[in-house]
Amino acid sequence: MRKGFAVWLTGLPASGKTTIARALEKILREKKLNVEVLDGDEVRMNLSPDLGFTKEDRETHARRVAYVTKLLVRNGVAVIVGLISPFRNFREQARKQIGNFVEVWVKCPIEECMKRDPKGLYKKAINGEINDLTGIQDPYEEPLNSEVTVDTSKESLEESVNKIIKKLEELKYLTTSHTS
Ligand SMILES: Nc1ncnc2c1ncn2[C@@H]1O[C@H](COP(=O)(O)OP(=O)(O)OP(=O)(O)O)[C@@H](O)[C@H]1O
Ligand SMILES: [Mg+2]
Repeated sequence: MRKGFAVWLTGLPASGKTTIARALEKILREKKLNVEVLDGDEVRMNLSPDLGFTKEDRETHARRVAYVTKLLVRNGVAVIVGLISPFRNFREQARKQIGNFVEVWVKCPIEECMKRDPKGLYKKAINGEINDLTGIQDPYEEPLNSEVTVDTSKESLEESVNKIIKKLEELKYLTTSHTS
């Protein structure tokens, strides 16, 4: 069996997590890995329809995602998680629980995220229609020791994805000889 691992994409809303997750998924599938993407909105709808965006709820949700990720990883799956996961200690908990954990900071200045605003969330936060958006009212704790940092305001999507692939190769997650 291949060695499973998790690529945990963390970053502000609209920083590029979903876009990178889908591009990375395609490449890993081409390499014949078993891939699952656990991405923000869809996962929240399915795992945590009961939860909101308080710190406690965000933590509970991150714990659920980490648990599912752990189950998949131990069965040889390449799991790509796209989750704002704004608190450092939740990410550290996930790292501990999952083990084969590659934290990717999807970095992008908030001004650029606000310009992109594909879901209109920043606009709503500024208009006061939502009061708990990460980056506006809620904090985002920047990673201090992520395995990879990509800057989507400066790099192309391809460059960002290649950086992640390179790190996965370096960590020997993409070789078949390396088994768990
Ligand atoms: N280098 C890049 N990498 C990724 N996305 C980019 C890049 N350059 C521009 N973009 C654009 O930025 C936007 C990022 O949106 P995306 O939905 O991927 O963000 P997200 O981090 O998943 O946000 P959310 O937390 O709200 O789900 C997209 O419109 C994408 O096309
Ligand atoms: Mg997303």
